Amino acid sequence: MQIVILDDAAQVAAYGANIFAKQLLKKPASVLGLATGSTPVALYQQLIEKNKAGDISFSQATTFNLDEYLGLTGEHPQSYRYFMNEQLFNHVDIDKQNTHVPPGDAVNPLIACTEYEQKITAAGGVDVQLLGIGRNGHIGFNEPSSGLTSRTRVKTLTKATIEDNARFFAEGEYQPHLSITMGIGTILEAKKVVLLATGASKADAVHAMVEGPLMAKCPASALQLHKDAVIIIDKAAASKLE
Ligand code: F6R
Repeated sequence: MQIVILDDAAQVAAYGANIFAKQLLKKPASVLGLATGSTPVALYQQLIEKNKAGDISFSQATTFNLDEYLGLTGEHPQSYRYFMNEQLFNHVDIDKQNTHVPPGDAVNPLIACTEYEQKITAAGGVDVQLLGIGRNGHIGFNEPSSGLTSRTRVKTLTKATIEDNARFFAEGEYQPHLSITMGIGTILEAKKVVLLATGASKADAVHAMVEGPLMAKCPASALQLHKDAVIIIDKAAASKLE
């Protein structure tokens, strides 16, 4: 693992955005693995600016998102498809046909999981996968106790994750407890993995991922096995590293 510790969240976003920009310049038809959540928003903003400035193009790129709530259509404002359209895809020159988010409205979610894996393989595999990390060490929706070789599948969310994400749902609104997520084995097959974490609330999870034992209790610790994993964190998220 390469650990990059920067002063603040803005620097983390800029560093991460540069990795993706360089990837697109090196290989315009890159396959990018993308994430949702609060952390990547500033990175996506920078990619939008670079695209508008003509520095990078997504016109030949293909994307695969990590996860999606099961039970929400892409039109639902809390779906990850909607998030990606709003935060990135609507603002860059990507062909939406080449953007993939697990289908939260799949008639048969089990078949949809297998098909998602097949699409990633058919695209040639993910070149660079963006990740955030949950306070409990999850990556994607691979919650603690997820198999370290797991593939794309339906996962139940933990109480901690449901509580963390409740802020995005209106009071009384239906909040899904199930998701479709790439597995840890799927994520580990990306050629490069870039994880961003900012803020003191992530310090314990970052410590467990980087310095703890490799264990299913901290899914992100599986990144210790990856030969090209870059962990980009601010000082607050790094505060519990030895
Ligand atoms: C989202 C995802 C999640 C988030 C994690 C951190 O696609 O895969 O694992 O990366 O929950 O979320 P934030 O960035 O909101 O703290």
